[in-house]
Amino acid sequence: LNVEVPNSFTYVTKNITKTTVEQRERALQATHYNEFAFPAGLLIVDMLSDSGTTAMTDMQWSAMFLGDESYGRNKGYYVLLDAMRDCFERGDHPKKSLNLIRNGEQDVEKLLDELYLVEEEGGLFNGGAAQLERPNAFLMPQGRAAESILFEIVRKILNDREPGKTFTIPSNGHFDTTEGNIKQMGSIPRNLYNKELLLEVPEGGEYEKNPFKGDMDIAKLQELIDKLGIENIPMIYTTVTNNTVCGQAVSMKSIRETAEIAHKYEIPFMLDAARWAENCYFIKMNEEGYADKSIPEIAKEMFSYCDGFTASLKKDGHANMGGILAFRDKGYFWKKFSDFNEDGTVKTDVGILLKVKQISSYGNDSYGSMSGHDIMALTQGLYECCNVDYLKERVDQCNYLAKGFYDAGIKGVVLPAGGHGVYINMDEFFDHKRSHESFAGEGFSLELIRRYGIRVAELGDYSMEYDLKTPEQQKEVVNVVRFAVNRSMYSKAHMDYVIAAVKALYEDRESIPNMRITMGHNLPMRHFHAFLEP
Ligand code: F0G
Repeated sequence: LNVEVPNSFTYVTKNITKTTVEQRERALQATHYNEFAFPAGLLIVDMLSDSGTTAMTDMQWSAMFLGDESYGRNKGYYVLLDAMRDCFERGDHPKKSLNLIRNGEQDVEKLLDELYLVEEEGGLFNGGAAQLERPNAFLMPQGRAAESILFEIVRKILNDREPGKTFTIPSNGHFDTTEGNIKQMGSIPRNLYNKELLLEVPEGGEYEKNPFKGDMDIAKLQELIDKLGIENIPMIYTTVTNNTVCGQAVSMKSIRETAEIAHKYEIPFMLDAARWAENCYFIKMNEEGYADKSIPEIAKEMFSYCDGFTASLKKDGHANMGGILAFRDKGYFWKKFSDFNEDGTVKTDVGILLKVKQISSYGNDSYGSMSGHDIMALTQGLYECCNVDYLKERVDQCNYLAKGFYDAGIKGVVLPAGGHGVYINMDEFFDHKRSHESFAGEGFSLELIRRYGIRVAELGDYSMEYDLKTPEQQKEVVNVVRFAVNRSMYSKAHMDYVIAAVKALYEDRESIPNMRITMGHNLPMRHFHAFLEP
């Protein structure tokens, strides 16, 4: 047959309330044209974010019943750490702990072993008792919680050492919350990807293989290090996939080379691993040497290069809640941010500082603001994300939408599609007629809500704060809107509706209003709280 065999079916159904243009217009006015404040119940298709919006599987719902709500070291804590080791470190997913708990059993000897287990030096998730002695894995409710704890502690350490100094943290593309957190620590975020590569589109709109447009531009990174000096760069980040750069994939080659440069200078190399599984899928499909490897095998190599990572597991945890901050036991991150006595013994372990902050903000270390139910849904969800059929269906859905836009003649579609969404470049969409101050991408997004009940996210001049950036940083902004594709949720009918709506809006693009900020221009992450008017 000349069609794909489907991968799953849905049996939880939500009906959509049909609303009129006038009703949505009223809601837009009442909420000061702030997209984040627009009521979801008035929308036809909500593509604002793929974060936590996942439709969970039957296995996840059933796992939730196994959640243990104990305050101290609930059962799920051990099972989740084991799932992370399976998915990120072992290259294999035997699901031993999860299967045991599903069978209503508990391996008491294993639990006791684990309590005394101080993982071999070099792991990202020390054992249950070792988390007391050498804490290095911190459960979090979501990604930005991990970032804010990380950057707050790093700022404190750096400031104690060299008061008042400004640092730069380069990445292939920081997400907006990561930028916000770095800025709040008084440092400068930089996004060093290759913009020319990003904006290239082949004739006919199709690449044979993914060109890995999310890669770090290694030459730019080296140039920045030479210019600023290693003492001014406390860490180097890589985001997989590169959400800010249109959800584009990052090659293993780029991750390896970035780590090599970082380690040459003993700078900690960090991953933002929110979409780790999608990135592994792109590597499997498109990078030489990975076709026969499983997702956990590829992940094992990917994580082997980092000294630590933050991750929102509301994405590739296939879950509605969850996050993690972890660092490599005795790795570069630990060495750089711990304090040592002259004889080399540890004076202050950075892990202890992070744990104190975690506990004071998010509760005991074994739940990190997640309920026992959430922990179990996430544990199962991590394994779900290793399923290649699921990943294929997801990436194919993004491609269908992107190709649909392209074939409809809409200008500015970023190709290939990312792993979690489709992006349209607003400069091209508006024939380069709108200025950076007009926030035309936000005008587009609001008009899409008003006319067709479709919500997308502006990730360009408005939310990436073009007007508040230095000329150097401004060159790094791509003026896009994103159509996020929720995990395991949409059908082809949703996609066809969105394609038809955007085509109609494109044909009438001259009438889309520019937007003006009337309140909150300079607030950090202003798109969450600013007021606008057409
Ligand atoms: N890093 C990346 C790459 C992200 O995409 C996000 C969130 C975060 C960190 C923060 O994680 O939301 O769990 O606190 N991205 C969502 C999005 C919100 O719509 O792209 P969080």
